[in-house]
Amino acid sequence: MLDIGAGTGRLTEFVASLIGPDGRVVGIDPLENRIAIARLRASKTLSFDVGRAEDLSRFGAAEFDVIYLNSVFHWIADKPRALHEIYRVLKPSGRLGLNVQDPTKPHASRTLLRQAIAEAGFAERSGEAHRVLGATDEELKALVIDAGFVDYRSDLRSLVDLHDDVETMLGWSEASAFGNFLEGFSSAERETVKRAFAALIEAKRTPEGFRLERYLRFAFARKPESRDAASGL
Ligand SMILES: C[S@@+](CC[C@H](N)C(=O)[O-])C[C@H]1O[C@@H](n2cnc3c(N)ncnc32)[C@H](O)[C@@H]1O
Repeated sequence: MLDIGAGTGRLTEFVASLIGPDGRVVGIDPLENRIAIARLRASKTLSFDVGRAEDLSRFGAAEFDVIYLNSVFHWIADKPRALHEIYRVLKPSGRLGLNVQDPTKPHASRTLLRQAIAEAGFAERSGEAHRVLGATDEELKALVIDAGFVDYRSDLRSLVDLHDDVETMLGWSEASAFGNFLEGFSSAERETVKRAFAALIEAKRTPEGFRLERYLRFAFARKPESRDAASGL
């Protein structure tokens, strides 16, 4: 099994705990410092290496039964190349699973922050950096099918985050390349937006904290038994 964009390997370690002593899980990530942390989890069945989705040349053809990418696909610059590589290193009938943000379904925090910017009287300063990364279902399906996969299916899932307060919520948003769309604002302007945001999220207050939904599309596909099977011959 291959975990692409494994980060510090928390999920990879969990997956390795599920597959039993005869399995093998490999995690790769382009960031050396993340892989250095991940390697502390290495075991007989679990290993990590520095590497990116677009170049899986360290692996032979048809090595893996399953390849997954959790919260990674949107970051990949050359998605067709990555999918081509994934296809190559998967065994026939091997399975691909990934999730991705859908630009047509932004996270609630993002929607509310945009609303707060408007209510604070500012114009949107959204440029390329503020674009929702990711793919719609149609875009994702076309990419996956073009790479040769079959049995594509996907569903949009909603996940609920609980936040203690506005500061930590905006802190997370500002630290994230996804949500840092207060970037172009002065500190005085940010304060005005934060006040508007704080008023808006009152509607989301629960006894456990502020409850905000975010959305991820989960997609699955399979490499056919053979190229002939993919073309229906
Ligand atoms: C949000 S983290 C997800 C980490 C891990 N999958 C998890 O679920 O905890 C995204 C990861 O994707 C990695 N990444 C970014 N571009 C990548 C690429 N082209 N190929 C593989 N991984 C990439 C980043 O280094 C980062 O560790």
